[in-house]
Amino acid sequence: MDLFEYQARDLFEKHGVPVLQGYVATTAEEAKEAAEKIGGVTVVKAQVKVGGRGKAGGVKVAKTADEAYEYAQQILGMDIKGHTVHRVMIAQGADIAEEYYFSLLLDRANRAYLAMCSVEGGMEIEQLAVERPEALARVEVDPIEGITEDKARQIVTEARFDAETAEKIVPVLVKLGEVYAKEDATLVEVNPLVKSGDGQILALDGKVSLDENADFRQPGHAELVDKAAENPLEAKAKEKDLNYVKLDGQVGIIGNGAGLVMSTLDVVAYAGEAHGGVKPANFLDIGGGASAEVMAAGLDVILGDQDVKSVFVNVFGGITACDQVAHGIVQALEILGDTATKPLVVRLDGNNVEEGRRILEEANHPLVTAVDTMDGGADKAAELAAAN
Ligand SMILES: Nc1ncnc2c1ncn2[C@@H]1O[C@H](COP(=O)(O)OP(=O)(O)OP(=O)(O)O)[C@@H](O)[C@H]1O
Ligand SMILES: [Mg+2]
Repeated sequence: MDLFEYQARDLFEKHGVPVLQGYVATTAEEAKEAAEKIGGVTVVKAQVKVGGRGKAGGVKVAKTADEAYEYAQQILGMDIKGHTVHRVMIAQGADIAEEYYFSLLLDRANRAYLAMCSVEGGMEIEQLAVERPEALARVEVDPIEGITEDKARQIVTEARFDAETAEKIVPVLVKLGEVYAKEDATLVEVNPLVKSGDGQILALDGKVSLDENADFRQPGHAELVDKAAENPLEAKAKEKDLNYVKLDGQVGIIGNGAGLVMSTLDVVAYAGEAHGGVKPANFLDIGGGASAEVMAAGLDVILGDQDVKSVFVNVFGGITACDQVAHGIVQALEILGDTATKPLVVRLDGNNVEEGRRILEEANHPLVTAVDTMDGGADKAAELAAAN
């Protein structure tokens, strides 16, 4: 999960990284109030989860609170690379003497963390990385040890900071390493990290990505989720612990096991070509124990998608036998009652398949078509979607 700049700023503050005052605002009035509270020069900054805000006109220096009001009015509602600005951060203005760059990220290929640092930070960092890669120090960081003082010293030395600045930056890098480790981040980037006129080191802009796999031990992270940007069906699925991803096609897909669901998507997309380009509407893996409740929850989410015209349930019985899955489908349709309106194509195979098929046949539900093969099921589901 990527964070907004103001959320990154708050995490930095929590871990003792030096930052300036900053308040988030959703209206120009709130922006003005924040600017009054801070006093003096402030910076109005678009809060969108995309880079290059400054160049797009989303970062403006305001000399007075009235100016902050005006800039907030301009920036709120602005489109930056397809992201609408719904909030701004009003930050205390810094007197910048120098701009540096620092980031720490997960380096999967090397099973390590990678720190990158440069004395030349600011808005041209991407260009710098391409044109003069030698100006960007790259230092491997041991994930167990993290950024120790020695490691921080190695980073600033390789980035060729002068000795005095280097000594000031070392403790800030150690703190940023703490943010990374304690918050279970996969990215912590500060651009620019600045030295102010009076020699202070400050993190002026932060990008942080958090590892959702660690959510179970980070209860505080739940409130960082941008609810407004979440797809409502995906949010509903998440509540029910389903692995669901909305796609833009018409055939709803339910399967057990990520591999089977992925290949079902391919087979449906292929079959759909013969039916006017019908495509899969979602990815949904109901996992190993496909109980009636899980099946009902899955069908409920998929049938709630306006775009879905038919559903293909493709289950391979293993630990959960086909008869249990068939019972699950029948009961799920009972639970859903009239809310289930779209045709269901069901292909069962594997453990106890005869009994599973018999149960479906006996239930004889008007919406259900049982098929024997995956290809046949994909074709039938695509045909029904095209016809609906
Ligand atoms: N609080 C501040 N005080 C003074 N100047 C600032 C402040 N915040 C940002 N700036 C200036 O604005 C520039 C751009 O700001 P910032 O880095 O936050 O946005 P950006 O780099 O354009 O966005 P992104 O990092 O998303 O690409 C900075 O390099 C800095 O010169
Ligand atoms: Mg920046």
